Amino acid sequence: MKRRLTAWLSSLLLASACSGERVAPVPSRDGVAKPLGLFSRALEVGAKERALAALERDARRREARFREVTEPGYSFRVTRVPQREIDWGLWSPGELFELGAQLFHQRFRKEDGFGAADLPALGRFQRGERGGPDAYQCADCHRRGGPAGGGDFSDNAYILGDGDRPATALERNPRALVGAGLIELVGREISSELAGQRDALIASAKAARAPRRSELTSKGISFGFLTARLDGTLDTSEVSGIDADLLVRPFGWKGRAATIRELVESELATHHGMQSEHFVATASEAMKGSGPTEDPDGDGVIAEITEGQVSALTAYLAMQEVPTIEPPLYLQEWGKPNIHFQPLWNEGVVLFRELGCATCHVPELELSSTVFTLPARSGKATLRVDLAAEGAEPRIKPEADGRVVLRAFTDLKRHDLGEFVADAFSERGRRPSEFVTPPLWGLARSRPYLHDGRAPTLEDAIMMHRGEAEASSSAYFALPEDGRAAVRVFLTSLTRARRFAVP
Ligand code: HEC
Ligand code: HEC
Repeated sequence: MKRRLTAWLSSLLLASACSGERVAPVPSRDGVAKPLGLFSRALEVGAKERALAALERDARRREARFREVTEPGYSFRVTRVPQREIDWGLWSPGELFELGAQLFHQRFRKEDGFGAADLPALGRFQRGERGGPDAYQCADCHRRGGPAGGGDFSDNAYILGDGDRPATALERNPRALVGAGLIELVGREISSELAGQRDALIASAKAARAPRRSELTSKGISFGFLTARLDGTLDTSEVSGIDADLLVRPFGWKGRAATIRELVESELATHHGMQSEHFVATASEAMKGSGPTEDPDGDGVIAEITEGQVSALTAYLAMQEVPTIEPPLYLQEWGKPNIHFQPLWNEGVVLFRELGCATCHVPELELSSTVFTLPARSGKATLRVDLAAEGAEPRIKPEADGRVVLRAFTDLKRHDLGEFVADAFSERGRRPSEFVTPPLWGLARSRPYLHDGRAPTLEDAIMMHRGEAEASSSAYFALPEDGRAAVRVFLTSLTRARRFAVP
């Protein structure tokens, strides 16, 4: 509350400073955007409470459906939160989470801007960077295993094709979006550490008047070697797993974005033909279409997605719950206490490291700060959410000693995984067999596996690890059956909290 008030006061001060003696109007909400109580960040304590809360939310959804059929466009309109109201601090993170959730489950209509004049009404195979549109809502694909989950094989997207033939497109399985805010944060921390190491190396080469070569490392992960030449330029040929700009891009199977916000805007555009104000102002013609400046997709709707809506969707995804690790302590064989799985799980934890899985699927990454910030593009106010205090439950909890540890099982780097997983051609300059190590948290709830969902089981996924992961995959298959089962038991314990949902 206090923070909101200060943000508000400082915006007042700024406004009056600019406009001389005129007093700025007291900011208030315009009354259009509304959280409807359909989605919640909370996990109620107790099964009965959870079930009742789920039933209540379902009843509200029913109400909202009636409202929508009597007042078409209502449910989209109530997500149109103005960015200035967010900048003024008039919306709490919890309310933005709800608005974002409403948008994520919003069936976009033509009247809202769905689709484009130069694209078919719906296209299963995307056309270049322009996209489908191939779905009516985000949750059509991100739905398996819980809110903002992954997708099934039949939900796969076909990207960067000719809009017609599947063989021209790259097949991609929808990724689970759990813990996305923390992944972005850990990526940002690594990127800024690497940038610091680069700057220091350039300075030391200058001071020594000699080239300098040094290893790039952050959070115990090596990103290869960097050489600073005498003239201040860099030799990045030995950098590994990230681009030459040393920016970590954990999002997308190929590692194509550093931030959730970038993907929110490109997903809106390619899957739904919903173009945000920022996208319209900044994207290339190949991405947005060649219609009028204000309406590049030529469908007659302008400002299809406002900056505020992008912020709300980004906040929703950044605040996603953190997956859990649930060892099979309580599994019972109808009444008899289970004696089998717990020792296997213990063995699986050890084997996961011994086989070398943990070199890429890094079990623990320490995070310095859990505060997710979304800078306003105006450069002024900032949306700030402490994920440890305000994220969706279950949220990240500091350890007993105060450290914050992410158990995401990724190194955020790209690796060459060999011929079994290779695409038919490269994506945006990335080699066909190169993918970012996907986080394994929540794994039990995100079948099928790999970038195109080609692996129906965990063992199929491991079998397809070749290239840099060949040694660890072979070591897995050299194990006796109980050893392999132990690894699978451990992987199956990577799951998500149980929620009730009314279908
Ligand atoms: C047609 C299915 C489909 C729809 C609809 C869809 N997505 Fe996705 N989403 C995908 C696929 C496939 C990927 C992986 C893309 C890649 O590898 O580049 C993905 C990846 C993402 C990611 C990156 C996650 C990560 O960890 O890499 C985000 C964020 C995301 N989607 C958000 C959204 C939002 C927001 C919407 C709605 C505006 C949406 N998606 C609609 C299929 C879909
Ligand atoms: C050299 C790095 C590396 C090593 C070592 C490695 N992996 Fe992977 N793993 C990856 C990459 C990259 C992918 C994504 C490949 C794709 O999408 O085609 C992946 C995907 C997976 C997936 C599927 C995840 C999903 O969400 O679809 C599982 C499960 C998995 N690995 C388990 C293991 C296990 C178990 C081991 C050890 C036996 C292991 N990995 C060793 C890099 C590695």
